[in-house]
Amino acid sequence: MGPGEQVRVIPEPSTADLRASATIGRRSWRHPEFARQSPGPPVASARMGLRAYAGPDDDEQIERVRQAVLAVDGDGWLPGPDGGEVPAEACVVAEDAGEVVGFGRLDRWTEDDGTEMFLVTGCVHPDRRGRGHGTAMLRRQEAYAASLGSGAPHQVLGGNADDDRPGARQLLLDNGYRVAFTLVDLSRPVADAAAPAALPAGLRTRPVLAEHQPLIHAAITECFTGSGDGFVSPDYDSYLAAVRDTDLWAVAWDGDEVAGLVTSEREDGGRADSPWVAVRPAYRRRGLASALLARSLAAMREHGVTVATIRTVAENPHRTVDLYQRAGYRIVRRMPRYRKPLASVSA
Ligand SMILES: CC(C)(COP(=O)(O)OP(=O)(O)OC[C@H]1O[C@@H](n2cnc3c(N)ncnc32)[C@H](O)[C@@H]1OP(=O)(O)O)[C@@H](O)C(=O)NCCC(=O)NCCS
Repeated sequence: MGPGEQVRVIPEPSTADLRASATIGRRSWRHPEFARQSPGPPVASARMGLRAYAGPDDDEQIERVRQAVLAVDGDGWLPGPDGGEVPAEACVVAEDAGEVVGFGRLDRWTEDDGTEMFLVTGCVHPDRRGRGHGTAMLRRQEAYAASLGSGAPHQVLGGNADDDRPGARQLLLDNGYRVAFTLVDLSRPVADAAAPAALPAGLRTRPVLAEHQPLIHAAITECFTGSGDGFVSPDYDSYLAAVRDTDLWAVAWDGDEVAGLVTSEREDGGRADSPWVAVRPAYRRRGLASALLARSLAAMREHGVTVATIRTVAENPHRTVDLYQRAGYRIVRRMPRYRKPLASVSA
Protein backbone atom coordinates (compact mmCIF):
# COMPACT_ATOMS: atom_id res chain seq x y z
CA MET A 1 0.00 0.00 0.00
CA GLY A 2 1.43 3.34 -0.89
CA PRO A 3 1.49 6.41 1.32
CA GLY A 4 -1.68 8.44 1.15
CA GLU A 5 -3.97 5.46 0.85
CA GLN A 6 -6.69 5.14 3.42
CA VAL A 7 -7.28 2.08 5.56
CA ARG A 8 -8.78 -0.49 3.25
CA VAL A 9 -11.65 -2.68 4.22
CA ILE A 10 -12.42 -6.03 2.66
CA PRO A 11 -15.29 -5.92 0.19
CA GLU A 12 -18.74 -7.05 1.26
CA PRO A 13 -18.67 -10.70 2.27
CA SER A 14 -20.61 -13.31 0.44
CA THR A 15 -23.42 -15.02 2.30
CA ALA A 16 -21.39 -18.21 2.54
CA ASP A 17 -22.55 -20.44 5.33
CA LEU A 18 -19.62 -20.50 7.72
CA ARG A 19 -19.47 -23.90 9.28
CA ALA A 20 -16.94 -23.79 12.07
CA SER A 21 -15.16 -27.05 11.64
CA ALA A 22 -12.18 -26.36 13.85
CA THR A 23 -11.47 -28.85 16.57
CA ILE A 24 -10.67 -26.40 19.26
CA GLY A 25 -9.42 -27.47 22.60
CA ARG A 26 -10.66 -30.56 24.29
CA ARG A 27 -14.21 -31.77 24.55
CA SER A 28 -16.68 -29.60 22.73
CA TRP A 29 -16.22 -26.21 24.21
CA ARG A 30 -14.71 -24.19 21.49
CA HIS A 31 -12.18 -21.77 22.77
CA PRO A 32 -9.61 -20.36 20.40
CA GLU A 33 -7.60 -17.48 21.74
CA PHE A 34 -8.01 -13.78 21.08
CA ALA A 35 -4.38 -12.89 21.58
CA ARG A 36 -3.32 -9.80 23.42
CA GLN A 37 -3.93 -6.50 21.75
CA SER A 38 -2.48 -3.29 23.04
CA PRO A 39 -4.93 -1.18 25.00
CA GLY A 40 -3.27 1.95 23.59
CA PRO A 41 -5.27 4.45 21.56
CA PRO A 42 -5.58 3.66 17.87
CA VAL A 43 -3.04 5.64 15.82
CA ALA A 44 -4.16 5.21 12.24
CA SER A 45 -1.45 5.37 9.65
CA ALA A 46 -1.99 5.83 5.97
CA ARG A 47 0.07 2.71 5.36
CA MET A 48 -2.10 0.53 7.58
CA GLY A 49 -4.91 -1.47 6.18
CA LEU A 50 -7.08 -4.53 6.23
CA ARG A 51 -7.33 -6.87 3.32
CA ALA A 52 -8.67 -10.26 2.42
CA TYR A 53 -6.62 -13.39 2.89
CA ALA A 54 -4.69 -13.90 -0.35
CA GLY A 55 -4.30 -17.67 -0.01
CA PRO A 56 -1.17 -19.76 0.60
CA ASP A 57 1.08 -16.86 -0.44
CA ASP A 58 0.16 -15.24 2.89
CA ASP A 59 0.82 -18.28 5.05
CA GLU A 60 4.51 -17.72 5.72
CA GLN A 61 3.91 -14.18 6.95
CA ILE A 62 0.92 -15.28 9.03
CA GLU A 63 3.00 -17.98 10.66
CA ARG A 64 5.75 -15.42 11.39
CA VAL A 65 3.20 -13.22 13.21
CA ARG A 66 1.75 -16.24 15.05
CA GLN A 67 5.18 -17.35 16.32
CA ALA A 68 6.05 -13.83 17.47
CA VAL A 69 2.74 -13.63 19.36
CA LEU A 70 3.24 -17.04 20.99
CA ALA A 71 6.77 -16.07 22.04
CA VAL A 72 5.50 -13.01 23.88
CA ASP A 73 2.03 -14.03 25.08
CA GLY A 74 2.78 -17.66 25.89
CA ASP A 75 1.12 -20.82 24.73
CA GLY A 76 -2.25 -20.58 23.05
CA TRP A 77 -4.20 -21.52 19.97
CA LEU A 78 -4.19 -18.78 17.34
CA PRO A 79 -6.53 -19.77 14.53
CA GLY A 80 -5.98 -17.97 11.29
CA PRO A 81 -6.90 -18.02 7.63
CA ASP A 82 -4.11 -20.50 6.94
CA GLY A 83 -5.79 -23.52 8.57
CA GLY A 84 -8.36 -23.78 5.78
CA GLU A 85 -11.08 -24.49 8.35
CA VAL A 86 -13.20 -21.49 7.44
CA PRO A 87 -13.82 -19.79 4.09
CA ALA A 88 -11.31 -17.12 3.09
CA GLU A 89 -13.99 -14.43 3.36
CA ALA A 90 -14.30 -15.17 7.09
CA CYS A 91 -10.69 -14.10 7.54
CA VAL A 92 -8.92 -10.78 7.62
CA VAL A 93 -5.29 -9.75 7.31
CA ALA A 94 -3.86 -6.53 8.78
CA GLU A 95 -0.93 -4.95 6.98
CA ASP A 96 1.40 -2.04 7.51
CA ALA A 97 3.46 -0.87 4.55
CA GLY A 98 2.80 -4.12 2.73
CA GLU A 99 3.87 -6.31 5.65
CA VAL A 100 1.43 -8.65 7.41
CA VAL A 101 1.20 -7.52 11.05
CA GLY A 102 -1.96 -9.33 12.20
CA PHE A 103 -4.69 -11.71 11.22
CA GLY A 104 -8.13 -12.71 12.38
CA ARG A 105 -11.04 -14.91 11.53
CA LEU A 106 -14.67 -15.58 12.32
CA ASP A 107 -15.91 -19.00 13.43
CA ARG A 108 -19.58 -19.78 13.65
CA TRP A 109 -21.52 -22.57 15.37
CA THR A 110 -24.70 -23.31 17.31
CA GLU A 111 -24.46 -24.35 20.95
CA ASP A 112 -26.65 -26.85 22.79
CA ASP A 113 -28.83 -24.17 24.37
CA GLY A 114 -29.56 -22.60 20.96
CA THR A 115 -26.99 -19.82 21.21
CA GLU A 116 -25.71 -19.05 17.71
CA MET A 117 -22.10 -18.03 18.20
CA PHE A 118 -20.05 -15.81 15.90
CA LEU A 119 -16.61 -16.01 17.46
CA VAL A 120 -14.13 -13.31 16.53
CA THR A 121 -10.47 -14.18 17.02
CA GLY A 122 -7.29 -12.45 16.01
CA CYS A 123 -3.81 -11.35 16.99
CA VAL A 124 -1.35 -8.58 16.23
CA HIS A 125 2.45 -8.83 16.09
CA PRO A 126 3.84 -7.67 19.48
CA ASP A 127 5.96 -4.96 17.82
CA ARG A 128 2.95 -3.51 16.00
CA ARG A 129 0.50 -3.15 18.84
CA GLY A 130 -1.02 0.10 19.99
CA ARG A 131 -1.71 1.31 16.44
CA GLY A 132 -5.30 0.27 15.99
CA HIS A 133 -4.84 -2.96 14.06
CA GLY A 134 -6.69 -5.03 16.67
CA THR A 135 -9.60 -2.60 16.86
CA ALA A 136 -9.83 -2.39 13.06
CA MET A 137 -9.90 -6.18 12.68
CA LEU A 138 -12.47 -6.57 15.46
CA ARG A 139 -14.79 -3.98 13.89
CA ARG A 140 -14.42 -5.50 10.44
CA GLN A 141 -15.20 -8.98 11.74
CA GLU A 142 -18.17 -7.72 13.75
CA ALA A 143 -19.59 -6.04 10.63
CA TYR A 144 -19.04 -9.22 8.66
CA ALA A 145 -20.84 -11.28 11.31
CA ALA A 146 -23.71 -8.78 11.31
CA SER A 147 -24.02 -9.17 7.54
CA LEU A 148 -24.46 -12.93 7.99
CA GLY A 149 -26.81 -12.96 10.95
CA SER A 150 -30.40 -11.85 11.37
CA GLY A 151 -29.73 -10.11 14.68
CA ALA A 152 -32.14 -12.46 16.49
CA PRO A 153 -31.64 -12.50 20.30
CA HIS A 154 -29.97 -15.92 20.30
CA GLN A 155 -27.24 -14.70 17.95
CA VAL A 156 -24.17 -13.44 19.78
CA LEU A 157 -20.68 -12.25 19.06
CA GLY A 158 -17.97 -13.92 21.12
CA GLY A 159 -14.35 -13.28 22.01
CA ASN A 160 -11.74 -14.90 24.23
CA ALA A 161 -9.15 -13.31 26.50
CA ASP A 162 -7.27 -15.12 29.21
CA ASP A 163 -6.79 -13.35 32.50
CA ASP A 164 -3.11 -12.93 31.68
CA ARG A 165 -3.90 -11.15 28.41
CA PRO A 166 -5.06 -7.78 29.64
CA GLY A 167 -4.80 -6.05 26.27
CA ALA A 168 -7.22 -8.44 24.59
CA ARG A 169 -9.56 -8.25 27.57
CA GLN A 170 -9.58 -4.46 27.46
CA LEU A 171 -10.28 -4.47 23.72
CA LEU A 172 -13.30 -6.70 24.27
CA LEU A 173 -14.54 -4.72 27.28
CA ASP A 174 -14.12 -1.43 25.41
CA ASN A 175 -16.26 -2.85 22.62
CA GLY A 176 -19.11 -3.93 24.86
CA TYR A 177 -18.25 -7.62 25.45
CA ARG A 178 -18.84 -9.12 28.90
CA VAL A 179 -17.84 -12.49 30.39
CA ALA A 180 -20.48 -15.17 29.70
CA PHE A 181 -18.68 -18.11 31.29
CA THR A 182 -15.15 -19.26 32.08
CA LEU A 183 -13.47 -22.46 31.00
CA VAL A 184 -11.16 -23.83 33.69
CA ASP A 185 -8.24 -26.20 33.03
CA LEU A 186 -7.10 -28.30 35.95
CA SER A 187 -4.19 -30.67 36.34
CA ARG A 188 -2.64 -32.99 38.90
CA PRO A 189 0.36 -35.33 39.19
CA VAL A 190 -0.71 -38.95 38.98
CA ALA A 191 2.02 -40.53 41.15
CA ASP A 192 0.40 -39.65 44.48
CA ALA A 193 -3.19 -40.52 43.51
CA ALA A 194 -5.07 -42.12 46.40
CA ALA A 195 -6.27 -45.74 46.18
CA PRO A 196 -9.79 -45.82 44.68
CA ALA A 197 -12.72 -45.93 47.10
CA ALA A 198 -15.53 -48.49 46.74
CA LEU A 199 -18.29 -47.68 44.27
CA PRO A 200 -21.77 -46.94 45.64
CA ALA A 201 -23.69 -50.14 46.45
CA GLY A 202 -24.98 -52.14 43.49
CA LEU A 203 -22.61 -50.61 40.90
CA ARG A 204 -19.56 -52.20 39.34
CA THR A 205 -17.02 -51.37 36.67
CA ARG A 206 -16.27 -53.53 33.65
CA PRO A 207 -13.58 -53.29 30.96
CA VAL A 208 -14.93 -51.21 28.09
CA LEU A 209 -15.92 -53.15 24.97
CA ALA A 210 -16.69 -51.72 21.55
CA GLU A 211 -20.36 -52.71 21.91
CA HIS A 212 -20.63 -50.53 25.05
CA GLN A 213 -19.93 -47.36 23.10
CA PRO A 214 -23.53 -46.57 22.01
CA LEU A 215 -24.71 -46.79 25.66
CA ILE A 216 -21.78 -44.70 26.89
CA HIS A 217 -22.46 -42.07 24.25
CA ALA A 218 -26.17 -42.09 25.16
CA ALA A 219 -25.30 -41.55 28.85
CA ILE A 220 -23.06 -38.61 27.93
CA THR A 221 -25.77 -37.10 25.75
CA GLU A 222 -28.34 -37.50 28.53
CA CYS A 223 -26.05 -35.89 31.10
CA PHE A 224 -25.04 -32.92 28.96
CA THR A 225 -28.27 -32.16 27.10
CA GLY A 226 -29.38 -28.65 27.92
CA SER A 227 -25.97 -27.61 29.22
CA GLY A 228 -25.39 -23.95 28.55
CA ASP A 229 -22.04 -22.24 28.80
CA GLY A 230 -21.00 -22.83 25.23
CA PHE A 231 -21.42 -26.58 25.18
CA VAL A 232 -21.85 -28.35 21.83
CA SER A 233 -22.71 -32.06 22.12
CA PRO A 234 -20.98 -34.38 19.69
CA ASP A 235 -22.97 -36.78 17.54
CA TYR A 236 -22.08 -40.45 17.83
CA ASP A 237 -19.60 -40.44 14.94
CA SER A 238 -17.62 -37.46 16.21
CA TYR A 239 -17.66 -38.91 19.73
CA LEU A 240 -16.31 -42.23 18.44
CA ALA A 241 -13.70 -40.55 16.26
CA ALA A 242 -12.14 -39.03 19.39
CA VAL A 243 -11.84 -42.40 21.17
CA ARG A 244 -8.27 -43.67 20.93
CA ASP A 245 -8.13 -46.40 23.54
CA THR A 246 -10.17 -47.21 26.61
CA ASP A 247 -7.46 -48.53 28.96
CA LEU A 248 -7.81 -45.52 31.25
CA TRP A 249 -11.62 -45.32 31.28
CA ALA A 250 -13.77 -46.06 34.30
CA VAL A 251 -17.39 -46.92 33.48
CA ALA A 252 -19.83 -47.92 36.24
CA TRP A 253 -22.74 -50.22 35.45
CA ASP A 254 -25.98 -50.95 37.22
CA GLY A 255 -26.72 -54.29 35.61
CA ASP A 256 -26.94 -53.53 31.88
CA GLU A 257 -27.37 -49.80 32.39
CA VAL A 258 -24.52 -47.32 32.38
CA ALA A 259 -24.59 -45.37 35.68
CA GLY A 260 -21.63 -43.06 35.14
CA LEU A 261 -18.27 -42.73 33.47
CA VAL A 262 -14.93 -41.02 33.30
CA THR A 263 -13.20 -41.30 29.94
CA SER A 264 -9.46 -40.57 29.76
CA GLU A 265 -7.16 -40.51 26.78
CA ARG A 266 -3.36 -40.61 26.71
CA GLU A 267 -1.63 -37.60 25.19
CA ASP A 268 1.98 -36.72 24.44
CA GLY A 269 4.50 -36.15 27.20
CA GLY A 270 3.14 -38.70 29.68
CA ARG A 271 -0.12 -36.81 30.04
CA ALA A 272 -3.71 -38.02 29.95
CA ASP A 273 -6.84 -35.89 29.61
CA SER A 274 -10.34 -36.80 30.80
CA PRO A 275 -12.73 -35.39 28.19
CA TRP A 276 -15.95 -36.82 29.65
CA VAL A 277 -17.12 -37.04 33.25
CA ALA A 278 -20.81 -37.90 33.50
CA VAL A 279 -23.10 -39.53 36.05
CA ARG A 280 -26.72 -40.14 35.10
CA PRO A 281 -29.17 -38.23 37.29
CA ALA A 282 -30.45 -41.26 39.24
CA TYR A 283 -26.93 -42.05 40.45
CA ARG A 284 -25.72 -38.58 41.42
CA ARG A 285 -24.56 -37.28 44.81
CA ARG A 286 -23.45 -40.68 46.05
CA GLY A 287 -19.75 -40.22 45.37
CA LEU A 288 -19.80 -42.03 42.02
CA ALA A 289 -17.96 -39.37 40.00
CA SER A 290 -15.30 -39.12 42.71
CA ALA A 291 -14.86 -42.91 42.79
CA LEU A 292 -14.61 -43.13 39.00
CA LEU A 293 -12.08 -40.29 38.86
CA ALA A 294 -9.97 -42.19 41.41
CA ARG A 295 -10.23 -45.36 39.32
CA SER A 296 -9.21 -43.59 36.17
CA LEU A 297 -6.24 -42.01 37.98
CA ALA A 298 -5.19 -45.45 39.28
CA ALA A 299 -5.31 -46.79 35.70
CA MET A 300 -3.21 -43.84 34.54
CA ARG A 301 -0.61 -44.63 37.19
CA GLU A 302 -0.51 -48.29 36.10
CA HIS A 303 0.02 -47.21 32.49
CA GLY A 304 2.86 -44.81 33.30
CA VAL A 305 0.93 -41.55 32.92
CA THR A 306 2.48 -38.80 35.02
CA VAL A 307 0.09 -35.84 34.67
CA ALA A 308 -3.71 -35.85 34.49
CA THR A 309 -5.64 -32.93 33.01
CA ILE A 310 -9.32 -32.04 32.90
CA ARG A 311 -11.38 -29.09 31.64
CA THR A 312 -14.63 -27.76 33.01
CA VAL A 313 -16.68 -24.58 33.23
CA ALA A 314 -16.54 -22.46 36.38
CA GLU A 315 -20.30 -21.91 36.23
CA ASN A 316 -21.19 -25.64 35.99
CA PRO A 317 -24.20 -26.02 38.34
CA HIS A 318 -22.81 -29.37 39.53
CA ARG A 319 -19.85 -27.54 41.09
CA THR A 320 -17.32 -29.47 39.06
CA VAL A 321 -14.33 -27.28 39.94
CA ASP A 322 -14.89 -28.32 43.59
CA LEU A 323 -15.37 -31.96 42.53
CA TYR A 324 -12.05 -32.00 40.69
CA GLN A 325 -10.21 -30.10 43.40
CA ARG A 326 -11.42 -32.70 45.92
CA ALA A 327 -9.91 -35.29 43.55
CA GLY A 328 -6.53 -33.56 43.82
CA TYR A 329 -6.62 -31.42 40.67
CA ARG A 330 -5.45 -27.81 40.80
CA ILE A 331 -6.51 -24.96 38.54
CA VAL A 332 -3.85 -24.13 35.96
CA ARG A 333 -5.72 -21.82 33.58
CA ARG A 334 -8.95 -19.83 33.33
CA MET A 335 -10.29 -18.85 29.92
CA PRO A 336 -13.24 -16.47 29.95
CA ARG A 337 -15.57 -16.41 26.95
CA TYR A 338 -16.87 -12.89 26.30
CA ARG A 339 -20.12 -12.22 24.48
CA LYS A 340 -22.35 -9.42 23.30
CA PRO A 341 -25.55 -9.45 21.25
CA LEU A 342 -24.99 -9.55 17.49
CA ALA A 343 -27.83 -7.06 17.23
CA SER A 344 -25.63 -4.46 18.97
CA VAL A 345 -23.50 -4.01 15.84
CA SER A 346 -24.48 -3.09 12.32
CA ALA A 347 -23.27 -4.64 9.09
C1 LIG B 1 -20.76 -33.56 37.69
C2 LIG B 1 -21.26 -34.98 37.93
C3 LIG B 1 -20.42 -35.90 37.09
C4 LIG B 1 -21.08 -35.31 39.42
O1 LIG B 1 -21.42 -36.69 39.62
P1 LIG B 1 -21.74 -37.28 41.10
O2 LIG B 1 -21.60 -38.73 41.04
O3 LIG B 1 -22.99 -36.69 41.58
O4 LIG B 1 -20.51 -36.66 41.93
P2 LIG B 1 -20.18 -36.97 43.47
O5 LIG B 1 -21.29 -37.72 44.08
O6 LIG B 1 -18.82 -37.58 43.51
O7 LIG B 1 -20.10 -35.51 44.06
C5 LIG B 1 -21.20 -34.62 43.85
C6 LIG B 1 -21.71 -34.04 45.18
O8 LIG B 1 -22.29 -35.08 45.95
C7 LIG B 1 -21.72 -35.07 47.24
N1 LIG B 1 -21.72 -36.44 47.73
C8 LIG B 1 -20.82 -37.40 47.47
N2 LIG B 1 -21.17 -38.54 48.11
C9 LIG B 1 -22.34 -38.28 48.75
C10 LIG B 1 -23.21 -39.05 49.53
N3 LIG B 1 -22.95 -40.33 49.79
N4 LIG B 1 -24.32 -38.46 49.99
C11 LIG B 1 -24.59 -37.18 49.73
N5 LIG B 1 -23.80 -36.39 48.96
C12 LIG B 1 -22.70 -36.94 48.49
C13 LIG B 1 -20.32 -34.52 47.01
O9 LIG B 1 -19.76 -34.02 48.21
C14 LIG B 1 -20.62 -33.44 46.04
O10 LIG B 1 -21.18 -32.34 46.73
P3 LIG B 1 -21.11 -30.82 46.24
O11 LIG B 1 -21.97 -30.74 45.01
O12 LIG B 1 -21.69 -30.07 47.38
O13 LIG B 1 -19.67 -30.52 45.94
C15 LIG B 1 -22.76 -35.12 37.56
O14 LIG B 1 -23.49 -34.15 38.28
C16 LIG B 1 -23.05 -34.94 36.09
O15 LIG B 1 -22.95 -35.88 35.30
N6 LIG B 1 -23.42 -33.69 35.68
C17 LIG B 1 -23.74 -33.41 34.28
C18 LIG B 1 -22.53 -33.55 33.38
C19 LIG B 1 -21.38 -32.68 33.84
O16 LIG B 1 -21.51 -31.50 34.13
N7 LIG B 1 -20.17 -33.29 33.85
C20 LIG B 1 -18.94 -32.63 34.21
C21 LIG B 1 -18.39 -31.93 33.06
S1 LIG B 1 -16.81 -31.18 33.39
